[in-house]
Amino acid sequence: MGFSSPNSQLLSKIATNELHGENSPYFHGWKAYDNDPFHPIQNPNGVIQMGLAENMLSFDLIEDWIKKNPRASICTSEGLNKFRDIAIFQDYHGLSEFRNAVAKFMGRVRGDRVKFDPARIVMGGGATGANELITFCLADPGDAFLVPSPYYPAFGRDLRWRTGVQLFPVMCNSKNDFQITVEALEEAYEKAKQSNIKVKGLIIANPSNPLGTVLDREALKTLVSFINEKNIHLVCDEIYAATVFSAAPNFISVAEIIQEMDCNRDLIHIVYSMSKDMGLPGFRVGIVYSYNDAVVNCGRKMSSFGLVSSQTQHLLASMLDDEEFVEMFLRESAKRLSDRHKFFTMGLEQVGISCLKSNAGLFVWMDLRSMLIEQTVEAELELWKIIINQVKLNVSPGSSFQCVEPGWFRVCFANMDDATVEIALKRIQMLAGQGKEKEVAVKNKPWRKNLRLSFPARIYDESSVMSPRLMSPHSPIPHSPLVRART
Ligand SMILES: Cc1ncc(COP(=O)(O)O)c(C=O)c1O
Repeated sequence: MGFSSPNSQLLSKIATNELHGENSPYFHGWKAYDNDPFHPIQNPNGVIQMGLAENMLSFDLIEDWIKKNPRASICTSEGLNKFRDIAIFQDYHGLSEFRNAVAKFMGRVRGDRVKFDPARIVMGGGATGANELITFCLADPGDAFLVPSPYYPAFGRDLRWRTGVQLFPVMCNSKNDFQITVEALEEAYEKAKQSNIKVKGLIIANPSNPLGTVLDREALKTLVSFINEKNIHLVCDEIYAATVFSAAPNFISVAEIIQEMDCNRDLIHIVYSMSKDMGLPGFRVGIVYSYNDAVVNCGRKMSSFGLVSSQTQHLLASMLDDEEFVEMFLRESAKRLSDRHKFFTMGLEQVGISCLKSNAGLFVWMDLRSMLIEQTVEAELELWKIIINQVKLNVSPGSSFQCVEPGWFRVCFANMDDATVEIALKRIQMLAGQGKEKEVAVKNKPWRKNLRLSFPARIYDESSVMSPRLMSPHSPIPHSPLVRART
């Protein structure tokens, strides 16, 4: 456009720093998908999106509820009488019926073993906004948070970019199924201290993204003791609390643990959202639930930057208050996720690919270490490029989750319909050299030769096709993976 100054001079230092994380391979996969998105009819050899942790398996249940409850929406003739009240309402506290319903729902998905106080709920724009909000409240620029690795890649952006906070990984590995040990916690803590960096807290995702595992009671107690002893905060991102699809092991919230042990509750904060458990990431409903009054007060002022639309609050207040619906939804959603997980992992097992044993989340943590030429990040990325460009699946490499062991990949399985997941599975089976398409059979390293994909055309009913989108879901700017990368 004729300007010669680089953006770094025109824009702020914060806006142009690299902490948005866009340069990671995790985000490049999104571009590959955007450039060549799979469609069963229009582009059957395109890239299948398996890098998006969305729960699309139970939309029909929500749609049915919406149809049966037209008064819950203010944009229907049945609900219009509430329009004015809701349209003008933007109290930072949120609608009381919304906070009450969310508190009740949070208790319900945690097995009613704990009660949540609606007065402690602070709104954020999704868990993304909630995570940034809590970081702002707890730490100054330059301070650090510890975070067990592998961890959700967008933590890098959400917790650091605008706050100036640093992350120190707590290294976990497959020797003990990536469990967090006290030694690893101490090591990360000492590393920060040796660099004269103040550690303000520990953030965990439980259930874990990307592992799909839940922390047991003992592990949670260890974490609470650790932060208590160091007098630092514990932020538990429990966004997948109800996305646990087999009864054992149960999900246990930190809220339950602090009822059972002595600890300074001012240090405990929960982040929650409707993006996964209800499958509504577009609604941008995020929650900080803090046991610390000062954080609640300060967070509430700050939540003005990321309020949940009052229209959404109004709708969800009715939906979540409908106990019968919530009960049925959670049961059915767990069943569908469980079936999908079983189908997918068994299909992988048939060709000798194993995954970390898991029962939560919308993904599996797939072990392709044996396919690496050598156990390095470079080799992992080389394999990943083949998976994206030739196998045509956008899966996410472990290195983008700061995993210390090369060869692990996160594969999302709930953002597509049955037919698409079957195709995705076939493609992975081809990669393993044991699928039906024998043209890829190559000695030892099947993926080292060019893979030519040719899948039989399936008979699709266009109206029921679920997965393809012409563009990835979150970006305001076409083909920018930046904002999208929150899943
Ligand atoms: C652990 C974790 N935290 C936060 C988020 C962001 O969620 P939201 O869409 O509610 O902003 C995600 C999304 O994948 C996540 O996995």
